[in-house]
Amino acid sequence: MSTASQRGLAVITGAAGVLGTRIAERLAADGHDLLLVDLDRAVALTAERIAAASSRRAVACVADLTSAEGAEAVARSAGEEGGNVALLVNNAGITRDGRIGDMQERDFAAVIDVNLTAAMRLTFALERLLADGSVVLNMSSRASLGNFGQANYVASKSGLVGLTRALALRWAPRVRVNAVAPSLIDTPMAHSMPEHVLEKVVSRIPAGRIGMPDDVASIVAFLASPEAGYITGQVLVACGGRSIAA
Ligand SMILES: NC(=O)c1ccc[n+]([C@@H]2O[C@H](COP(=O)([O-])OP(=O)(O)OC[C@H]3O[C@@H](n4cnc5c(N)ncnc54)[C@H](O)[C@@H]3O)[C@@H](O)[C@H]2O)c1
Repeated sequence: MSTASQRGLAVITGAAGVLGTRIAERLAADGHDLLLVDLDRAVALTAERIAAASSRRAVACVADLTSAEGAEAVARSAGEEGGNVALLVNNAGITRDGRIGDMQERDFAAVIDVNLTAAMRLTFALERLLADGSVVLNMSSRASLGNFGQANYVASKSGLVGLTRALALRWAPRVRVNAVAPSLIDTPMAHSMPEHVLEKVVSRIPAGRIGMPDDVASIVAFLASPEAGYITGQVLVACGGRSIAA
């Protein structure tokens, strides 16, 4: 039977968001203590709620991961929590959609900065705290394969796949590094597209439904577990078959 100390500290970014919160709840249920990171101060409430509802420790760190100071603040908090990071989930992400030609350079740069560069920055800031056998998971997207109106997002999420592979090779066998690539998940991010477009996209998903936050949380839980001990440098695409549909 696994206990909190056996599963160790999990650092989850974007933990005030929909997927980050669900992932945090699932990892607490699986026995991880949590360090929840977000730009949004509401992450403190998320941590309080999870700590009260589970037997796990859950602390919050409010940080802007686009700065070196933000990443160092997370490393300091992780040090105060014992300094042995068993799992890092780079989940923070943004969109700034626009058609090629209309997209402003600052919107391209902002998405790359949060979705890709910040993940690299935090991973390197925590490298010295990663325990033997620890796991890094990067939240990519099925959109890494291509999407209209999202050149910045597509570039950031396929960049994360490249980062995942490079780090997996560099750190094997001590640390496993994998990526999760969900398709549309039932969250405000998915509903930011016009409802008629969303309906059309969902109607073409072979699984016959939009993804749910639990679909992603259970994949994170699997890849974080010893059950996935022979998997590194891989991308698990969770898209209800969308990536293979014509
Ligand atoms: N929702 C989907 O359909 C979907 C599909 C595929 C991939 N994803 C990816 O999953 C992740 C979570 O998505 P979500 O739907 O929960 O989004 P969300 O907007 O609910 O959560 C993202 C969180 O990231 C935080 N964040 C943004 N910039 C930050 C920064 N500079 N520093 C620290 N935190 C910052 C936000 O405050 C927010 O709480 C994202 O990386 C997203 O790209 C989502």
